Amino acid sequence: MCGIVGYTGSRQAYPVILKGLKRLEYRGYDSSGVALLKDGELNVYKKKGKVAELEESMIGKNIDAQIGIGHTRWATHGEPSDRNAHPHSSASGKLAMIHNGIIENYALIKQDLVNKGYSFKSDTDTEVLLNFIEDIQQNNNSTLEEAVRIALKRVTGAYCILLIEQDNPDTIIAARKGSPLVIGIGKGEHFLASDASPIIEYTKEVVYVNDYELAIVKPDELILKNLGNEKITPYITKLDMELAAIEKGGYDHFMIKEIFEQPSTIFDCLRGRLDAKEGVIRMSGVDKHIDQLINANRIMILACGTSWHAGLIAEYIIEELCRIPVEVEYASEFRYRNPIVNKGDVIIAISQSGETADTLVALEKAKENGAFIFGVVNAVGSSIARISNAGAYTHAGPEIGVASTKAFTGQLAVLMMVALNIAKHKGTVSDERYKSLLLELEEVPEKVTAILKNAEDIKIIAEKYKNASDFLFLGRGYNFPVALEGALKLKEISYIHAEGYPAAEMKHGPIALVDENLPVVFIATKDVYHEKIVSNMQEIKARKGKIISIVTEGDMISPGLSNDYFAIPPADELIAPILTVIPLQLLSYYVGIAKGIDVDKPRNLAKSVTVE
Ligand code: AGP
Ligand code: GLU
Repeated sequence: MCGIVGYTGSRQAYPVILKGLKRLEYRGYDSSGVALLKDGELNVYKKKGKVAELEESMIGKNIDAQIGIGHTRWATHGEPSDRNAHPHSSASGKLAMIHNGIIENYALIKQDLVNKGYSFKSDTDTEVLLNFIEDIQQNNNSTLEEAVRIALKRVTGAYCILLIEQDNPDTIIAARKGSPLVIGIGKGEHFLASDASPIIEYTKEVVYVNDYELAIVKPDELILKNLGNEKITPYITKLDMELAAIEKGGYDHFMIKEIFEQPSTIFDCLRGRLDAKEGVIRMSGVDKHIDQLINANRIMILACGTSWHAGLIAEYIIEELCRIPVEVEYASEFRYRNPIVNKGDVIIAISQSGETADTLVALEKAKENGAFIFGVVNAVGSSIARISNAGAYTHAGPEIGVASTKAFTGQLAVLMMVALNIAKHKGTVSDERYKSLLLELEEVPEKVTAILKNAEDIKIIAEKYKNASDFLFLGRGYNFPVALEGALKLKEISYIHAEGYPAAEMKHGPIALVDENLPVVFIATKDVYHEKIVSNMQEIKARKGKIISIVTEGDMISPGLSNDYFAIPPADELIAPILTVIPLQLLSYYVGIAKGIDVDKPRNLAKSVTVE
């Protein structure tokens, strides 16, 4: 999620906070705001849009204060708007809070507060947590610190929160679980932020706050406690990274950072929705429209690029599990032909940015013909999210690298849950297979972690083949669209021509391309197609093609046919694509690096194609 900055000390707080928010803009944002406290006056200023727009709106405002908190938002609950921007003020107006993360059980807490007479100014989970804290403070007549501790023991989800209180003129209360928090130690001043980029110009002495820890921060005092109210000795470390490296979390590029974020972004996508033990998937966007979805005559999937590849995988999954006919269309083609769209058709729109012009126009056309639109989008409140009748966000956080990686696996996780949810309601999946798939889905984050541990093996393979002029990517079944995705990744990141094909299709022409200079990447995981794909590998080997294969751990056959191979943990064929794509993302990254390409900004490409 997004960015948090806090300051308490002798300087003017606003300039420190504003500069810090600008340093955090790389984390993506849709709105921003600041709360400043001086002589018992708590002022909150916030605005949809860029930090620069907040800055402009601050002209003429009272910004005199030595303590304050600031936030850049990446919405998860409540569309980007002035009223949903942070900081939020409590019902009494005496507290202001900013939050990075997702409070999973906010709906239940909100209902309790509404029953007690609370009303809410925003749609966010953050405002609910803030009023929960204030409700506890008032009912228990406790300090803010104690109220925060009690509240945090009762919430589930992820948070990094900063609070300031009208009656506590120099103190910031902070706490974290699942979202980062760094505290910079100055002389008579303290700096708080989501990472060290807003801090490093003032001090290199920092404390990295750990999960379930709470900080009471004054200009000349930092107290760290656990939620059991036991004091913890702050562990002060010295920053040894430069600013540029900090923005990338210590990684060389956003792309590799986002590839390595996938265990946690997939976990965030599943969080609060998948409960494998109970055998339940909770998706309000599906549950509220389940009749529309299970009675669909046909599902059409509209998307572009990598999102279109996610759609192809969804086609295989939905047809297998839900027995509903699915058509996947390039949005750019759909919008210009005279497509047949009937009432009762369901359109699934897939988009990371939610602003892709081809997809947006195609959806407008489909909606005119009465189609029901379900959006699978990463950017909350984006145009495609807003035009959709319902949907599910991928919660991958801002994706900065032009090549889509963590958004793609987030799309797959959402689409698998949607398909399982529909199939369960339709009764087209057995209880046994349903339960086993939920358990497999829950294990995905740790399997992705295991794959990423061997990233160096892919780097060696990448350096070996970086000078090839062409690549082929081959897969069958669920892994055919992954072959397409692997080819697209390599094209856009290394500028090497690459094509993805169904492996069985080679004999209908493309095998003419094969010679000793052609690397052929096979996605050859253990599934119903494995025997067939081994035959395809033998056809390539017989023509001296260089075989690189993605295999299942323990496979004794495919590696023997390969010049190089990379093993991944076993998984059901329906789940496999979310794993087999990871080594292909790494392959494209390391080939691009080996060729000295700026992988975060490849030539000719834009992160969001908002033009036709
Ligand atoms: C993916 O690596 C590409 N950058 C591109 O194909 C992208 O997937 C496509 O433009 C669709 O974008 P969207 O998901 O934001 O709609
Ligand atoms: N869940 C909060 C919201 O939607 C915080 C999002 C963030 O991390 O920026 O406002």
